[in-house]
Amino acid sequence: MDRRKFFKVAGGISLFAAAALWARGMMGGGMMGGAGNGAGLKEAGASAKQTGGSPFFNPLKIPSQIEGELRDGVRHYDLRLQAGVSEFFPGVKTPTWGINGPYLGPTIRLRKGEEVSLDWHNSLKEAATMHGHGMHLPAKMDGNVHQLIPPGGSWSARYRVRQKACTNWYHPHTMDRTAEQVMLGLGGLIIIDDEESQSLGLPDRYGVDDLPVVVQDRLFTREGYFAYPRNMMTTMHGFSGDTLLVNGTIAPYKEVEAGLIRLRLLNASNARVYRFAVPGVPSRLIAVDNSFLESPVAVDSVLLSPAERAELVLDLRGMEGKVLRLRDLESGAGVLELRVRRNSAGPAKLPARLTRLERPDPSQAKRKRTFRLQAMGPGRLVINGKRMDPDRIDERVPLGETEIWEVENAGMGMGRMMGMNHNFHMHGSHFWVLERNGSSAQVRPWERGQKDTVFLAPGDRVSLLVRHTDYADKRNPYMFHCHILEHEDAGMMGQFTVV
Ligand code: C2O
Ligand code: CU
Ligand code: CU
Repeated sequence: MDRRKFFKVAGGISLFAAAALWARGMMGGGMMGGAGNGAGLKEAGASAKQTGGSPFFNPLKIPSQIEGELRDGVRHYDLRLQAGVSEFFPGVKTPTWGINGPYLGPTIRLRKGEEVSLDWHNSLKEAATMHGHGMHLPAKMDGNVHQLIPPGGSWSARYRVRQKACTNWYHPHTMDRTAEQVMLGLGGLIIIDDEESQSLGLPDRYGVDDLPVVVQDRLFTREGYFAYPRNMMTTMHGFSGDTLLVNGTIAPYKEVEAGLIRLRLLNASNARVYRFAVPGVPSRLIAVDNSFLESPVAVDSVLLSPAERAELVLDLRGMEGKVLRLRDLESGAGVLELRVRRNSAGPAKLPARLTRLERPDPSQAKRKRTFRLQAMGPGRLVINGKRMDPDRIDERVPLGETEIWEVENAGMGMGRMMGMNHNFHMHGSHFWVLERNGSSAQVRPWERGQKDTVFLAPGDRVSLLVRHTDYADKRNPYMFHCHILEHEDAGMMGQFTVV
C-alpha cells in the first residue's frame, strides 16, 4: 500500500513531511529511510491489523456539542480561545489553537427563537475576533474585523436566533490575521434547529447518523509543526496543504449503521476547493449553507469552496460489511472511510418535502450592484479596484429592499491571463443564486437554497438576489469578501451597512 499517495493531495505542494511523520510515528521509519520510533511502530502494527490494513486508521473525532446554559431567559455559551497541543500523528505533538480544547471547537447548538449569548474569552497572546458565519444578526454582534477581543479579554455575541435551521460555523475574522488563525485551529460548527428540522424525521443522532464533517488541509514540518509558507505564492493561490483532516482527525474512519447517514459537510479549508462524493452510494442533497432545499435532490457530487456547507444523506441500507469512502474528486484523495456495520435504528426514508423557501421576486429588485474580484498585481487583491479599508463603507444597502448583486471573477489585470479561484461571501443574511454565467440552468443543485457563499471559477459571473431584513445600523458594517482566506487578508474584502 502506498501511504504516501494517500497523504499527498494531487495538485498540492510537494512536501512529504506528513509521510515522514507517519513514518516516524507509525512505521518505525521504514518508508522514509530511518527516522524511526519503535514505540509508535508496535502500536501501529496492532492497529493496522485490527483495521485490516486500511490507510484510514483513526476513529473520526466528533466535536462535543454545547447546548448552553439558560440564565434570565438568555442561553449562554462559554467559549474560550486557547493555545494547546494536538496529537495528529501518534507520539507527535503539534502546537495548535482551539476553542475549549486544543484544536477546533465544540458544535454550538442553537434553537430558533431563543435569545443567545456566545461568550467568547480570549486566552491567546494575540487579539482575535470571532464571527458567526451564516448568522443573521445585528452588525455589532457579527464578530467581524471591528469586534476585536484583546488578549485576556472577553466579548459576547448576543442576539435572538431568527433564521431557519441550518449548519453554520464560527471562525476568527481578525484584520490581516484570519488565514493563520484559522489554520492554527480556530473554528467550529453552529447548528441551528427549528420546529421544522425536528419534525422532519431526518437522521439526527449527532455523531451516529448525523455526522459533522469539517474538512481542512494542512502542511506539517518534519518536527510535526504546522507549516504555513508566508510568500507571494500563498497570497495569490491561497494556502493548501498535502494532508487532509476531518474534525481534526488525520486518516479518519467512522463505523456507521446500514441506514440513512447524514453528513454535514463544511469546507473549513483556507483555499482548497473540494468535490465531495461517495462513489457507488445513492446520495441526496438536503441542505445548503442557510437552509434545507425544498426537496431532497439526488446528486453524484457536491462542489464546495471555502466556507460553503452542504448536507448529504447517504443511503447505506443493505450495505452491511461494506467499506466506503467519502472522496474529493478534485484531487482524487480519500477524505473519510465509512465502515458499514449493523442495521440502522434510524429513519428508513427521507420526507419528499423538507421546507418551503420564500424567495423574493427578482422583478421587484430596486437596484443592481456589481462586485469585480480582481488581482491588480502581485499581492494586490481587490474588489471594484479597492482593497479593504475598515474605515470606509463601500455600500449602503436599504433595509428590506430587494437588490441584484452581480459578482464577477475578473481574473488578473485587464484580461484573464491568470486563472484564480475566488468565491464571494456576504455577511448579515443569505442570498439566492439567480444565474451563473447568464443562465439559471447553470445554477448548481447545491446553489438552489439560501446561500451565503458562492464559488467563482476563473471568468465566472453570478447574479445574486439579496435582501437584508431586521437589522439596520448606520454605523456598524457587515463585510463581503472572497473566502479564500489569504485573499481576504490581502484585501479582497469590503464593507456595507444596512440602512
Ligand atoms: Cu466566514 Cu466574513 O466570513
Ligand atoms: Cu461570514
Ligand atoms: Cu479570492
